[in-house]
Amino acid sequence: MNYFIHTYGCQMNIHDSEKIAGILEQLGYEACDKAELADVIVFNTCCIRETAEQKIYGHIGAIKKLKRTNPNMIAVVCGCMSQQEGVAEKIRTSYPFIDVVLGTSNLNLLKEALVSAQKKKKYSNVEFLKYREEDFYEARTSYPNAWVNINYGCNNFCTYCIVPYVRGRERSRPLEDVMTEIRRLLADGYKEITLLGQNVNSYGHDLDNGVTFASLLHEIGKTDGKFRLRFMTSHPKDLSQDVIDAIAEYPTICNNIHLPVQSGSTEILRRMNRRYTRDDYFALIDKIRAKLPDVGITTDIMVGFPGETEQDFEDTLDLVRRVKFSSAFCFVYSRRKGTPAYSMNDQIPYPVKKDRITRLLSCQNEVTKQISRSMLGLRYEVLVEGENSHYQNTMCGRTESGRLVNFKCDKSQIGQFVTVEIERANSATLWGNIITEAQ
Ligand code: SAH
Ligand code: SF4
Ligand code: F3S
Repeated sequence: MNYFIHTYGCQMNIHDSEKIAGILEQLGYEACDKAELADVIVFNTCCIRETAEQKIYGHIGAIKKLKRTNPNMIAVVCGCMSQQEGVAEKIRTSYPFIDVVLGTSNLNLLKEALVSAQKKKKYSNVEFLKYREEDFYEARTSYPNAWVNINYGCNNFCTYCIVPYVRGRERSRPLEDVMTEIRRLLADGYKEITLLGQNVNSYGHDLDNGVTFASLLHEIGKTDGKFRLRFMTSHPKDLSQDVIDAIAEYPTICNNIHLPVQSGSTEILRRMNRRYTRDDYFALIDKIRAKLPDVGITTDIMVGFPGETEQDFEDTLDLVRRVKFSSAFCFVYSRRKGTPAYSMNDQIPYPVKKDRITRLLSCQNEVTKQISRSMLGLRYEVLVEGENSHYQNTMCGRTESGRLVNFKCDKSQIGQFVTVEIERANSATLWGNIITEAQ
């Protein structure tokens, strides 16, 4: 019996899919690489932007035909989309060939849902339930990296964002649980741990035992063994000096911070409820670079938020040129039902948004190109992460600061640290040669 999982959205979902795969494997299902061959097909969905959602509805719709040839196939929809108001109901009425609907915080029900579906009984539940990570066996798919949840949900309610509604209030995992998982992963040979949370900096706020994100970093920093620690996402309003100091103190903690700015305009940031100004952001960048001169800072930026004027947008371009992000994920604002920005006046027409995203991308490309050029001829320690699917016989891995480098080496070296000299750079893509073979 086979299973196939379609994963959409962010790293949270990628990691949730590893938990789903674990449950399916414990039930005796095996992974397959074609949806048509699957006995269980899972859609782990995302609804951050309308484009993501439309694409997923299209893919779910296509199941109807697959089910005609394989009527015993079980189709599951879970993740952020099904957690939205009214969506479970919509799936029940408009997509009756879907057998199971689950939300983002009740994956522990998947087993009983599948048993029900095997008896041809539909199952739909999008309650927020408390489960312990420890109750899952994860079928991990990203060696040498391993994802580790530290907090779930979000309390920030940025006015454009659906996440607080579909992932619920912020909950931190106990520090001992996080540490036990990390030690186990290192003992199993993982070489990179990436901590996951919508806002990792607020880790511990709800634990009432004085634990903070910085104290977690110290615990991990003190752990023996050669490995890398990364984390995402950092909210600029909560990134403390203690965290910056901890990154500086331990070689294990990568000099790499994902720090979404969203906009370079103080007025837009206010309307987004981000709770920092353009100047606060610059001051934070200075504080980080004073302590971590080689840090790679990446970001998320949105264009076309309601009321964004040409001047607001110019402020974003100016910030991008000044901060010099090593990369930026750039998005066109998408109206999400149920969020405050949905009903704001002055929604920006699509042609304006399109023009702005094009200009933003070319602005960031220039910055990336400059940074790439400055890396030519230099040597960096890189963790060999896997094959580059775009080029034959090419492997790739990242520098500590998070830049991806392509190079030639044997597949058996995946999971090893090597030193690479950068010999070629095509704007965002770096090419290098292995100089010495480290541990
Ligand atoms: N918790 C993280 C990011 C979550 S979503 C943070 O606070 O930074 C990832 C990114 O998607 C956001 O940083 C934002 O840039 C983008 N995004 C969120 N809602 C969006 C919307 N309605 N339209 C377009 N982009 C959006
Ligand atoms: Fe969304 Fe803001 Fe929470 Fe990030 S911090 S998940 S952008 S509400
Ligand atoms: Fe992630 Fe999309 Fe949900 S970005 S948290 S999977 S809405």
